[in-house]
Amino acid sequence: MSPPPPFAVEQWMDKYETTAKYNIAETCCASVSIEELASLCESKTNATSILDLSAVQHYGEIRGSTPLRANLSRLYSSKGGSPLAPDNVLITPGAIAANFIVFYALIKPGDHVVCHYPTYQQLYTVPATLGAEVDLWRSKAENKWLPDFDELKAMVKENTRLIVLNNPQNPTGQVLPKSLLLNIVEFAESKNITVLSDEVYRPLFHGISPVNVDFPPSTLSLGYKNTIVTGSMSKAYSLAGIRVGWIASRNSDIIEQCAVARDYTTISVSQLDQQVAAFALSPDVIHSLLGRNIQLAKANLELLERFIIKHDEYCSWTKPVAGTTAFVKFERDGKPIDAEAFCKALQDKTGVMLLPGNHGFGAEFKGYVRIGYVNRTDIVKEGLEELRKFMRKEYDDLPLSE
Ligand SMILES: Cc1ncc(COP(=O)(O)O)c(C=O)c1O
Repeated sequence: MSPPPPFAVEQWMDKYETTAKYNIAETCCASVSIEELASLCESKTNATSILDLSAVQHYGEIRGSTPLRANLSRLYSSKGGSPLAPDNVLITPGAIAANFIVFYALIKPGDHVVCHYPTYQQLYTVPATLGAEVDLWRSKAENKWLPDFDELKAMVKENTRLIVLNNPQNPTGQVLPKSLLLNIVEFAESKNITVLSDEVYRPLFHGISPVNVDFPPSTLSLGYKNTIVTGSMSKAYSLAGIRVGWIASRNSDIIEQCAVARDYTTISVSQLDQQVAAFALSPDVIHSLLGRNIQLAKANLELLERFIIKHDEYCSWTKPVAGTTAFVKFERDGKPIDAEAFCKALQDKTGVMLLPGNHGFGAEFKGYVRIGYVNRTDIVKEGLEELRKFMRKEYDDLPLSE
């Protein structure tokens, strides 16, 4: 395993988020306190039972707590799909650890990996550091970020071990539709390739209805055994601070392989964190928590859309349908702006934080910035107002991309 290169998005967030006045680079739905979480509980008697204060703080159940795995198994079993046993879920410290463990368990030098792109850098950099040859399956702005299935088929080789998807997609907020997912898993099954889908932004669908034929189910429910999904409490469930994520697969052998890799990195996840996660995913809480976040996403996206329409001389996008992020291209006189200079000057002068796309997602994304619009509405509103003033006063002086 070679030393990893810097993780550009995480470094940018670390450098700028503590000083941001208006963080509209945030990818989590506005985070909640434990008090607020309790207030979302529909049964007032259960609202007081988040933490078991009498529980002794030993390592706890090594693969994850029974209540949390039971709740996750229920979520993946619903809607007529075949049931998923709690033993087919492994709890991890966030989805970042879940993804790492899957790669660490499955990838060896000489493997080939195809990764949906643009996406969270971890998903293609970690397999490369483990010695895999990685090809990027590009979704392109001109196709509304929908990647081409024929291109995927042409990329696959004899030694392709894994196809990596990110659905809904960070940074574009688009989804891989059901018909495409079915094609992917049917093709992967015919070639005996495992599919990993990072689904941390599920189930935050705010611009596509569950009755739409394109509505994407979890990749776990498409009938192919060699699929793995990773998920998290951070984004759709507003609880990044508890650091709880998971790996789920219908293939118990894959779960066993991941458990072996997990033994070297995790031992177990905090009992307290898992109690909070189990409470948030319980039937008394999950609906109001998700309802809050879908409303928040819709309301804030409307504010962002108004901004984009007002500035359509400079901005273009494909409006997101899911998740928390929009990928917006900023230009002047038909040329992309220097996104890094833009984000730095904006934060310096106004305290508004955005993330430059060419820095976080690859040099080819000239002029792009990622906007995380599901933070608190007052932050998004005031942040966009500051951005509007900046556009009027400073935008003309920004350098263009080389
Ligand atoms: C696609 C994707 N996967 C995984 C993660 C990591 O999330 P977690 O907080 O669950 O570790 C992120 C965080 O931004 C992400 O965007």
